[in-house]
Amino acid sequence: MAKPGPGFTCSACGAPHRKWVGRCDACGAWDSVIEEAPLSTAPRALSGKGRRVALSSLAATTPPPPRTGSGMAELDRVLGGGLVPASAILVGGDPGIGKSTLLLQAAASFARAGLKCLYVSGEEAADQVRMRARRLDLAQAPVMLAAETNLRDILTTMDAERPDLVIIDSIQTMWLDTVESAPGSVAQVRGAAHDLVSFAKRRGTAVVLVGHVTKDGQIAGPRVVEHMVDCVLYFEGERGHQFRILRAVKNRFGPAGEIGVFEMTGDGLAEVANPSALFLSERDHPAPGSVVFAGMEGTRPMLTEIQALVAASPLGTPRRTVVGLDSARLSTILAVLEARCGIPFAGLDVFLNVAGGMRVGEPAADLAVAAALLSAREDIAVPNKTVIFGEISLSGALRPVGQTENRLKEAQKLGFSHAIVPARSKTGDKDALRVRQMPDLTAFVGEMFGAG
Ligand code: TYD
Ligand code: MG
Repeated sequence: MAKPGPGFTCSACGAPHRKWVGRCDACGAWDSVIEEAPLSTAPRALSGKGRRVALSSLAATTPPPPRTGSGMAELDRVLGGGLVPASAILVGGDPGIGKSTLLLQAAASFARAGLKCLYVSGEEAADQVRMRARRLDLAQAPVMLAAETNLRDILTTMDAERPDLVIIDSIQTMWLDTVESAPGSVAQVRGAAHDLVSFAKRRGTAVVLVGHVTKDGQIAGPRVVEHMVDCVLYFEGERGHQFRILRAVKNRFGPAGEIGVFEMTGDGLAEVANPSALFLSERDHPAPGSVVFAGMEGTRPMLTEIQALVAASPLGTPRRTVVGLDSARLSTILAVLEARCGIPFAGLDVFLNVAGGMRVGEPAADLAVAAALLSAREDIAVPNKTVIFGEISLSGALRPVGQTENRLKEAQKLGFSHAIVPARSKTGDKDALRVRQMPDLTAFVGEMFGAG
């Protein structure tokens, strides 16, 4: 058998490589292959040496996990109703987005709710963390602080102190002396995360791991960290915008897709209880190209403004610039408008944007996007106080979307008087809201812009 030499592993997909390559041939990622200590390949007989595990039935009942609320409603909602003991949570986000700020505030809130909290900073010195705590007015909160990166020492401390909640900021700075590669390498991140997660399970301590996100939006290090933990939360936001969104991508103890909205202020993150109002606050009178979309984020309805600009293009291949929406979806909608309604966009630059830096991923936004494009192209404003949503199929038909009633309720709550939705939508009883149902895109175009 060949002697295992120094191994290389793709940090994106974990595929092993014999030598360094610029591009992983398993997943196609560039510049993701890094050196890592090989696993021992010595043959080991596994069966017959372990002990029998206890088996149980599916019908056995266990009470729901006890949860502790932090008092930060936006955070508790994303966690599925509070912090579960022995859970492992990964919080990912771009550098500088506010992860440390969020978790210091969370630690203080949980400490005030009676949990014993330990905040381990591997990136900043204790003084820096204390300075931030003073700025956040949390200096008096009973949070234990450590500035340390040696995981063996941290685990020993955790063993002795028995905290209820440990925050590790960040997992990429932790290193294990048993693993022979640099901190931040795949092997180190995987090893450190594994040790911390098994500590959580063994001792009933909740562990929060902070992780940096790479340029293309993956938590740096192998995806395996995401599989190891119970919850994966992303903290996101646009540079230059004040609001931040904490999004549950995975949650074993609650619904995924749930979001919490915060605003970064001079003294820390403030909760935003009514995000629709925040995203629509700058909207006074109707302008061509601007449409309000009634969307859903997790179980929460959220109104956002979709803006389009259409202008004659000096270029041979006109520009299609999209911010906050899927550009493939824009191409599809433009193609349907052209093929089914005879409205060409050839020779026209198209800019599409979700106001306030929000991101919209739902197909339910199709109709609002089409409305914004047409409104910009025809220079006709969509009537004021109108929300629009619905999925457009390739045939040009409009398809009802889920949670129609919740979307309409939110619109009504925020003072909207009209809604345009696909035919056959389950709208329920809406007295204060006039709901118009449209069977297809042609009918919609005819009705709204008098053409077709
Ligand atoms: P930080 O929590 O350090 O980000 P991360 O841990 O994700 O890298 O936040 C850094 C940014 O937040 C920094 O640019 C300053 C800003 N900030 C405020 O605007 N207000 C505050 O009260 C604090 C503490 C930070
Ligand atoms: Mg930080």
